[in-house]
Amino acid sequence: MVEVLRLNLSRVVDESYNILIGFGLFDSIPADLKANPVGEKYAIITDSVLKDIYGRRLLEKFSEENIDACLIDFPAGEESKNISTVTYLVRRLLEHRVDRKSAIITLGGGVVGDVGGFTASIYMRGIPYIQVPTTLLAQVDSSIGGKTAVDMEEGKNLIGSFHQPKRVYIDPSLLKTLPRREYLSGLAEVVKYGVIRDRDLFEYLERNVEKIKNLDEEALLHIIRKSCMIKKEIVEEDPLEENKRSILNYGHTPAHAIERLSCYKCLHGEAVSVGMRISGWIAVKKGFWRIDEWERQNKLLRSLGLPLKMDFNVDDLIEALYYDKKVEGGTLMFVLPKRIGEMFSINGRYKIPIREDEVRSFLLELNGNN
Ligand SMILES: NC(=O)c1ccc[n+]([C@@H]2O[C@H](COP(=O)([O-])OP(=O)(O)OC[C@H]3O[C@@H](n4cnc5c(N)ncnc54)[C@H](O)[C@@H]3O)[C@@H](O)[C@H]2O)c1
Repeated sequence: MVEVLRLNLSRVVDESYNILIGFGLFDSIPADLKANPVGEKYAIITDSVLKDIYGRRLLEKFSEENIDACLIDFPAGEESKNISTVTYLVRRLLEHRVDRKSAIITLGGGVVGDVGGFTASIYMRGIPYIQVPTTLLAQVDSSIGGKTAVDMEEGKNLIGSFHQPKRVYIDPSLLKTLPRREYLSGLAEVVKYGVIRDRDLFEYLERNVEKIKNLDEEALLHIIRKSCMIKKEIVEEDPLEENKRSILNYGHTPAHAIERLSCYKCLHGEAVSVGMRISGWIAVKKGFWRIDEWERQNKLLRSLGLPLKMDFNVDDLIEALYYDKKVEGGTLMFVLPKRIGEMFSINGRYKIPIREDEVRSFLLELNGNN
């Protein structure tokens, strides 16, 4: 005789949140949080570089508003995006008496957002967090959508969670202090949005290369707003990446492998640029995408100062590709363009299986074309 007790847990959750975008928004974050609180106390998590540039300034603004806040930092860079940093942060949060009624503020680029967001998702079984992105990459991509993660030696983002932020504050004026190479790297994700979803954005980028490279305020606001809109819409359609959201990973399968092979010396956006050339080439060779559009994509990337090629051994790259989370049943999967502004799908599925021998021969041909 077996007794069955059913634990009913079907529930509807509302994880909606506001993304605020504006020049000069940064200094008014504490005042806004006073008017629209997310927690009773705030732990600002940032990196060693940003602590002095913006961390102390934000802490000061919290103090002016009489809001309880603390500042915690860890060494800047992708090397810190690991589980040891998470343990370190948990200890600091405990020291600062951060509790379940508190909220974390991740102040930084994608590394701070990913590590801080992941920490928020597991600290005391999960507390709220707010994203304050400071790199272009984080402002147009990583701060939105609730993907959090840390890397393993074996590959990127292999430990993580979906944990949506409660709010995102995007102040493009923070980009003025961002090193140029980091800024240009972030533009790769903007080009990605154009290719995967928005031909108008792609053409806007083509027409405004110089303005964008010179951080013209109007152009910057336009590309950030458009990118956030696209990311938001895709996440709304498929929050847990069951299908459509995977198009945001265009170029990322090779990019993650390249980052790993370079021991994370190349920047994420630089690897994405090279990765889009590779994925785009696979799409061309499979007959899904016209070669002139692939060349147009590469021309735009090059004009924005992004790399298109990196030295790697094809077999090493293929081995590294297998650590991608899109690998299904041992098969390499890619998201591939159909035309600028639209991705290719088979029976409504966007992850396209490509045989390893095909990938190898396409890559060898591409390397030969160098
Ligand atoms: N969660 C997601 O959806 C998602 C999406 C894309 C990328 N990512 C992740 O994002 C990470 C890359 O993020 P990133 O490119 O922002 O790099 P990053 O966070 O390492 O920042 C780059 C460097 O710039 C410095 N910096 C940041 N903002 C600055 C500013 N305003 N002024 C001066 N210096 C500044 C940082 O201290 C750091 O040294 C990768 O780990 C990638 O996997 C996550």
